[in-house]
Amino acid sequence: MTDSIVERLRAAGCVFAEDEAAVILATATTPDEVERMVAQRVGGAPLEIVVGWAELGGIRFVVAPGVFVPRRRTDFLVQLGRALQPRVLLDLCCGSGAVGAAIGAAELHASDIDPVAVECARSNVEGSVYLGDLFDPLPAALRGRVHLITLIAPYVPTDEIALLPREARLYEPAATLDGGADGLAIVRRVAAEAARWLAPGGTLLTEVSEQQAPHAVALFEAGGLRTHVEEDEDRWATVVVATAAP
Ligand SMILES: C[S@@+](CC[C@H](N)C(=O)[O-])C[C@H]1O[C@@H](n2cnc3c(N)ncnc32)[C@H](O)[C@@H]1O
Repeated sequence: MTDSIVERLRAAGCVFAEDEAAVILATATTPDEVERMVAQRVGGAPLEIVVGWAELGGIRFVVAPGVFVPRRRTDFLVQLGRALQPRVLLDLCCGSGAVGAAIGAAELHASDIDPVAVECARSNVEGSVYLGDLFDPLPAALRGRVHLITLIAPYVPTDEIALLPREARLYEPAATLDGGADGLAIVRRVAAEAARWLAPGGTLLTEVSEQQAPHAVALFEAGGLRTHVEEDEDRWATVVVATAAP
C-alpha cells in the first residue's frame, strides 16, 4: 500500500513523496481516510491542509482549510521569541495562532481579521483571540503592557503573487499573502502604532523578505523603536527586531 501511495504522490509532483506518504499513513485512521487524503494531495492541496496539522517550533498545530499554513522558516522567529521569554505576548495577524502559541507566554493575546483564522486560532491558543483589524479589537488595558509583539503579516508584493507556488495561490486566500504594492502595507501600519502597545523595553519581531528589511527598519525607526535585522541563511528567514526604549 505504501509503495502505491508513494508512486501516486511522486507522479503528482510531490518531491518528498516518501515523507508525505508516511505523514498521511500516520494521520489517517481508516483506509477510506488514507484514500481521501492521497486524492486531495494528488489534486494539489497542501499536505498540511490535507492532514489538518502543521508543525512550528517542534509543536503540532491545527490548520483548517482557508487558513495560512505556518512556514518552516518561521521557526527562526519562534526561536528569537522564545529567547525573550515574554510574559505578555501579542500575536498580530495570527492566522492559525501557531506563532504565539509556539513561543508561549503567561498571558497570550492574538488577533486576525479573518473569522476562519480566528476560529482555527482558538483551537491552538491558550489565551484570548480577537477578531478584527490589527490593534482595533484589543482591550485598551493591554496598551503599554506587551513584552513581545509578533507579526507575520501578508508581505508578498502584489505583483509577485502570480510567482508564488500553485499550492499557495490556490489554497491560501489572497488576503493572507498580498502585502500591497511593496508588500509592507500592513507592516507600515503596525510600525506606526506598535510603540503605544509595547511595555518599556518590549520587542516586536516581524518576518519580511531580505529586500524589504531595510525599508521595514526605516518604518519601525520612524515609529520610535530601536531596530536591527536578524537573518538565518539556512532557513532563508529575515526578521526585523524593533525594541521600545527601557
Ligand atoms: C501570512 S499570514 C500569517 C499567519 C500566521 N501569523 C502564521 O505565520 O502562520 C497573514 C495573516 O494576516 C491576516 N491579516 C491580513 N490583514 C489583516 C489585518 N488588517 N488585520 C489583522 N489580520 C490581518 C490574514 O488573515 C492572515 O491570517
